[in-house]
Amino acid sequence: MRGIFKKLFLTYVLVIVVSSAIIAIFTDYVLKEYYKDEIAHELEVSAVLVEDMMENFAFAKNPSKLQNFVKRLGEKIKTRITIVNSDGTVFADSESDPETMENHKDRPEMEKALSGIIGKSVRHSDTLNIDMMYVAIPLKSNGNLSGAIRLSIFLSDINRKIKQIHKIIIVSVLIGILAALLLSFIVGKSFVNPILLMKTAAEKISKGDFNQKLDFKANDELARLGHSLNAMSEELQKNITETEREKNELSIVLSDMVEGVILVDKNRRIIMLNQSLSNMLYLRSDEAVGRHSWEILGNEEINNAIESTLAKAEPVRKDITILLPEEKYIQVQTSVIYDENNELYGVVGVFHDITQIRKLENMRTEFVANVSHELKTPLTAISGFIETLKEGAINDKKEASKFLDIMQANTERLNNLINDMLVISKSESKEMKLELKKVNIEKILESISSMYKERIDKKSQKLIFEIANNFTEITADEEKLIQIFSNLIDNAIKFTGQGGVITVKCYDVQDKIKIEVSDTGIGIPKEHLPRIFERFYRVDKARSREMGGTGLGLAIVKHLIQLHGGTVSVESQPGRGSSFTVVLPKEINS
Ligand SMILES: Nc1ncnc2c1ncn2[C@@H]1O[C@H](COP(=O)(O)OP(=O)(O)OP(=O)(O)O)[C@@H](O)[C@H]1O
Ligand SMILES: [Mg+2]
Repeated sequence: MRGIFKKLFLTYVLVIVVSSAIIAIFTDYVLKEYYKDEIAHELEVSAVLVEDMMENFAFAKNPSKLQNFVKRLGEKIKTRITIVNSDGTVFADSESDPETMENHKDRPEMEKALSGIIGKSVRHSDTLNIDMMYVAIPLKSNGNLSGAIRLSIFLSDINRKIKQIHKIIIVSVLIGILAALLLSFIVGKSFVNPILLMKTAAEKISKGDFNQKLDFKANDELARLGHSLNAMSEELQKNITETEREKNELSIVLSDMVEGVILVDKNRRIIMLNQSLSNMLYLRSDEAVGRHSWEILGNEEINNAIESTLAKAEPVRKDITILLPEEKYIQVQTSVIYDENNELYGVVGVFHDITQIRKLENMRTEFVANVSHELKTPLTAISGFIETLKEGAINDKKEASKFLDIMQANTERLNNLINDMLVISKSESKEMKLELKKVNIEKILESISSMYKERIDKKSQKLIFEIANNFTEITADEEKLIQIFSNLIDNAIKFTGQGGVITVKCYDVQDKIKIEVSDTGIGIPKEHLPRIFERFYRVDKARSREMGGTGLGLAIVKHLIQLHGGTVSVESQPGRGSSFTVVLPKEINS
């Protein structure tokens, strides 16, 4: 037995026992009185009968006959009969010899009977030494009071009867109590069971298990409470699902955001930090929540931004630079957030990685500087020679023709430079369209080799082709392919010394072809490799310029290859040579 059921049941028991006891005591009292009255009445009736009998029989006048009659009758009706005359002298008695008995005038019941009314008394009998009940009636002859007739009964007989009644009462009360207990047990259970079910359901609900359906058949308050619990659980589940959905949506948005986001409370504790920010600042986001922002962020400028936002309750925007492990430019924008009571809650910080934008900006300024410089050099030369010619050199035919040659070479260089830049700007602005057709790679490479034959021979270099013969044609823009491989071969010749070897390998890999242009030239130091495809980038600026290079060749190569959906990569060892690998799809869809 537990809790509520115990209380309920014990209360029932108490109520049942107390009320049964009251009923038992009351019943006992009432029955006892009723029984005594009944017996007194019986005695009275019997006394009247005895009087009647005495009137009708002559023996009444004969003392010994009367004594016999009284004795016999007393035995028969199991009642003591005493007859006294008007002065209280005992005349006859069914239990004792009247001769030996004292005057009964003073007995309370006799006193009343002798005064003409019925007397009743319960007391101890001196004669029989026992408790008795007495009923006496006046005895009349010819209308005059001549004595009294008293009938009495042992109280022990009455008590025996009353004891029997007691037994009956006790047994019925016990049966009643048992039945009531059984009933209260059943009723108690029927009360407590639904409550226990609801308790278990509520406990499960509090642990997040909302599949609790209480189904009570009855239509009482408990059943209604059960239904309310069901409704509450459903509502709660709906609300929680809704909140979770919102939370998930928010966390998906936050985690998918490119921008880094951090939420810090006014005590500088991190409430939320998204993956982008962890990646951007190289943090461990799983350890961040709950810790102090200055502990986790470890960047003074960011912490200062947070502090200043909290101190002034104003947004802060600033660009910061991170140097390690790699240089990064980050734009930080903080805002104050307030809680529902409009009190300062904390700071939200949004971080944009602007490294790429910065790099592009730098490239643009660098580009402008480079272009101006590249244009300026030949222009300075041209205007210088024009000046010299004007000052008189024009008259020296031989000298003049030499100057004009130089001017022509510089003009050509300007022309080439402008052409290269046009190619680049066209390809970058996506204006360039490929004119696709079936082209024979082998033929293209051969025609390029004839273009460079003179330069190769001059440097006593060797150009070797290793072309796998299992394919002949690919879909591409022929002119652009010529541009790509001319540039690569031109570089190879240019950056390879006397007697070097240039090898062009061509083979297919599934639906692609690979063309490797390798040389045994000066090679490219490792640190320059990632940048050589940038516009105007040259490893050794002075040397390349001397050789007429502007550093646009590889940038053009890369763009043209990308337009074909291909890739280009480089491997190189300084002093031993370089190898450029171009991968192109055999078929491309324009
Ligand atoms: N085969 C190579 N061997 C060694 N260095 C090379 C080779 N190819 C390119 N480079 C390096 O890469 C730089 C960029 O090459 P790129 O072709 O873009 O410019 P360039 O040849 O100098 O000028 P341009 O091609 O415009 O005449 C070169 O200046 C050179 O330093
Ligand atoms: Mg080049």
